[in-house]
Amino acid sequence: MCGIVGVISKDKIIKKNVLLDLLKRLEYRGYDSAGIGFMSLGKLRVIKQKGSIDKLRSIVKNDCLGVTCIAHTRWATHGKPNLHNAHPFLSESKTWAIVHNGIIENYLDLKKELGNIKFSSSTDSEVIAQLLEKDSDKKDINKLIRVCNKLKGSFALLCMSVTNPNSLFIAKRKSPIYVMKGKDGIIVASDTICFEGFGKSYYSLEDDEFCEVGLEKIEFYNKKGKKIKKEEQKLESLNYSSSKNGFEHFMLKEIMEEGLVVSNIIKKYSSEPFLSFNECVVRKIKKVVLIGCGSAYHAGLIGARFFEKNTLIDARCYIASEFRYLNNKIDKDTLYIFISQSGETADTLASLELVKNSGGLCVGVTNVMHSTLAKMVDIVLDVCAGVEVAVASTKAYIAQVVVLYMLSKHIEGILKSKSINFLKDVEELRLTLQKNEINNVDKVASLISKKQSVIFIGRDLDYYSSLEASLKLKEVSYISSFACPSGELKHGYLAQVDNTTCVVVIATKIDLLDKNLNNASEVDARDGKIIICSPFKIEDKYTQIKVENITSDLICCLVARKLQYLAYQTSIIKGINPDKPRNLAKSVTVE
Ligand code: G6P
Repeated sequence: MCGIVGVISKDKIIKKNVLLDLLKRLEYRGYDSAGIGFMSLGKLRVIKQKGSIDKLRSIVKNDCLGVTCIAHTRWATHGKPNLHNAHPFLSESKTWAIVHNGIIENYLDLKKELGNIKFSSSTDSEVIAQLLEKDSDKKDINKLIRVCNKLKGSFALLCMSVTNPNSLFIAKRKSPIYVMKGKDGIIVASDTICFEGFGKSYYSLEDDEFCEVGLEKIEFYNKKGKKIKKEEQKLESLNYSSSKNGFEHFMLKEIMEEGLVVSNIIKKYSSEPFLSFNECVVRKIKKVVLIGCGSAYHAGLIGARFFEKNTLIDARCYIASEFRYLNNKIDKDTLYIFISQSGETADTLASLELVKNSGGLCVGVTNVMHSTLAKMVDIVLDVCAGVEVAVASTKAYIAQVVVLYMLSKHIEGILKSKSINFLKDVEELRLTLQKNEINNVDKVASLISKKQSVIFIGRDLDYYSSLEASLKLKEVSYISSFACPSGELKHGYLAQVDNTTCVVVIATKIDLLDKNLNNASEVDARDGKIIICSPFKIEDKYTQIKVENITSDLICCLVARKLQYLAYQTSIIKGINPDKPRNLAKSVTVE
């Protein structure tokens, strides 16, 4: 949520493409507006634009950037997504320029304290620039530390001061920020994805740490202003590529990569099985609690069901933004599993902190092994999905479901004292995914794109698949959609059904097929259009999305893939860019 990047270049002049290409790597964090800040003829200047980075690119001149530069891509939290609220912000007398990711919770109080200053935006962030300008300390880094000590909330901050034009000043609390000293200069960024191709190691700031960096110096401080030493970390290659490999969109590319992702999971977990979950750990587990947001929450719901079915241990999944305020007792014999593609989602991290502080056993299921979540948990499980660029999660969701399935089966094996070859099920899924069959979905997408609302229904795991399918469709096509357990349809939901409605029935279990078809008839009787998503042959009067049949519960991944593609195709028909749907950000670093 908001991406920030800073560059100090040996070349004296930063080429605009270098800076904006780096910023582009962070576009998944928001694209409401974009801007850059730099020194020109001894003055701090900013150039900003409402909308995407590509729009900004068209108004930035190549030679105007200087030695030091900051840039920002925004996902609006406080203040409309317009030009006034675009970052960077300059202080009143233009002595400081700042970019910020996070939320300053006490910004209204701080604004009041500042008195008569004229603010140019309605954001929480601008107050930081003004506070820096008003601070009386002689050293810029001390000003930043003093100002940040007054802030409540979360921030990754990157600042430039007119008195130190060749330095960048950095601060962090809760939102991520990293620094790389490469051979051609310095890069500071919200994600190490910006470092690929520029160096081999980087520094990661912890909460309430500060940094002043120039070409010749890099100094870290704690919140008391004391210098601290930090070790560099090795940059693990993320195999980031800005290429869509011939696909029209990242979303499609990533859906098509799902077979490969499952193959990576098989490779990883056949050589490194779940060693941390040994007999001693597993036999203590009395309950499993899974926690996540968005698609990760839906993967958690499916995971909870796997644990219940396979291990017979009580399992429950919570939305992280709810869990953190429930004041639930944290039990030592409960396994807490935090699921997050990015490993940076604020609510998931807050729930994790809460459990960790109470001594619960915390497991992370994540796609980003250098993320805050990966560093905080006791045991981390890599979902091996590779960089996911499209904002709506596809391949990472499938990967989360597969890893949770394998873990539940591994635990089942230990509890039943028998060896369970769960990799066989995963291999069957891989083979089916790699056939890449996406039959007759295009026709259904065309039908759905004309409807006003879509209801996804199903029973048991198929209901959880409905939740994810509905989320995907609304995220990228903006069609109003929701999910409901098939049996609940007549408890109110049918009131929504008429000839403008489409009902997608997910039915992967033969013993529940008739029940689901009865529900379909109830919709049919009310003129709703029915689509059946199932591996079984259904009567011709219903349009069908045929799903391949496999033996295990991982069939839910095949359903997910078909319905991800349905959402993708619907967004294309509606003329929407599925990689950057409105009002969505990939990494939700604010609560
Ligand atoms: C946003 C993204 C979703 C993602 C959710 C949770 O809403 O658009 O795709 O599922 O955040 O993100 P996480 O990184 O924690 O999985």
